[in-house]
Amino acid sequence: MISAERIPNNVGLSSNKRLQRALEHWQPKYIQWWRDMGPQGFQDYHQVYVRTAVSVDPAGWAHFEYVKLPEYRWGIFLADPVHDRRIGFGDFLGQPVWQEVPGEFRNQLRRLVVTQGDTEPASVEQQRWLGQRCPSLYDLRNLFQVNVEEGRHLWAMVYLLHSYFGRDGRDEAEELLERQSGNRDKPRILDAFNEPIDNWLDFFMFTMFTDRDGKSQLLSLSESSLDPLSRTTRFMLTEEAHHMFVGETGVARILERACQLMKRAGFSGDVRKVGGIDIPTIQKFINLWFSLSLDLHGNEVSTNAASYFANGLKGRAFEEKWDDHAVTEAMYELQMMREGRLQTQHIPMRTAMNEVLRDWYVGDCQAGVTRWNKILERHGFSDRLRLPDRKFNRGIGMFSSLHFDPEGHQLTDDDWQRRKSEWLPAPLDREYLLSIMAEPVYEPGKFANYIAPPQRGIKGAAVNFEYVRTEL
Ligand SMILES: [Fe+2]
Ligand SMILES: [Fe+2]
Repeated sequence: MISAERIPNNVGLSSNKRLQRALEHWQPKYIQWWRDMGPQGFQDYHQVYVRTAVSVDPAGWAHFEYVKLPEYRWGIFLADPVHDRRIGFGDFLGQPVWQEVPGEFRNQLRRLVVTQGDTEPASVEQQRWLGQRCPSLYDLRNLFQVNVEEGRHLWAMVYLLHSYFGRDGRDEAEELLERQSGNRDKPRILDAFNEPIDNWLDFFMFTMFTDRDGKSQLLSLSESSLDPLSRTTRFMLTEEAHHMFVGETGVARILERACQLMKRAGFSGDVRKVGGIDIPTIQKFINLWFSLSLDLHGNEVSTNAASYFANGLKGRAFEEKWDDHAVTEAMYELQMMREGRLQTQHIPMRTAMNEVLRDWYVGDCQAGVTRWNKILERHGFSDRLRLPDRKFNRGIGMFSSLHFDPEGHQLTDDDWQRRKSEWLPAPLDREYLLSIMAEPVYEPGKFANYIAPPQRGIKGAAVNFEYVRTEL
């Protein structure tokens, strides 16, 4: 099934000539975009030891080889169909899932696919300079693995646009390569994807928190009544897991190193004096990326979310774990601001679906932070990292016009302006990070001073394996 085809796939592309031609027409534009906006300085002379999906079975997507990045085999893979799959929630509960897009939901579905699709190339663009400041070849390889897979996720969404959305879908596929992260005239759709990521602490926090929002969204889309959307997002989730691994272990290794340096500098010693990243700085980056990623889940009360659920387009994470899948009567307890005070209100759960997904997300993030704290505990330090309150630093939703500290206490505008650099990265913090990352580490087995080596290498290879090699 998979083979020497120009576009590796398990969707029978060779038997659909029209679609194949359309995608082969899009492919060179994609490669040009990758060269222009992908990893800078790592296009022609470097071979990267990456995993390439060649099929969806466990053996098929654990295929490792050295490739030059622009020659990575980006393909289209859908998880295997589920026999007699039925709609699992909303007003059409129990009916057979759809193999085509129903006309009445076409716009809503297209918007969901485009919004998801836009985040994929955006993150590659945000991260394109990081290779020049990498802490090791191991990390460089992980960065590129994440990047090529985000590229593949773009392919997944473009496949859906070309296959199911006709002319409009083809236009949207072009525009996905035209918008650019941080571009003033044509920015990416969502704010968190327009923030530059120019240091590795931002990168690890992004893959920990923002890729985890990706997981939220993919979990809810994998419940969709549109079966091809469900199957493609189900396969994307397997790749997403590695991205969060990179983020969580990246921060864990920085923390591990901070603990080693704290001991060396004396318990109260300043870790920065010995070139490490101190805990208060790590906490500020958690505050920033967690709050930005909370925003990605949308407004607390949302008629769009209600209609996505009612129409069976977007479910809850792990919908099968809930008892009631119609959700016509259920209510949701929401903390709302009323007359300047927080009050608990009961609202129909369908309108609170963004908040329901956010609950799942916060729990998943908390589990990661708890694992980080084990490192501090093991080293005998009493400091702990924590997630800020959900109301802190919000740009979307009912708390976005107000200010709160990380404990959730409301602040005046003046207090917020005066104190926000205690809680969020300040220019000096970023300057410091860039100063310790200025020299990239390209020697196998060597690691920058601010990060501990990983416990093991990739796919059984040694930590000092040459994960990226240069061929001139
Ligand atoms: Fe992705
Ligand atoms: Fe990702």
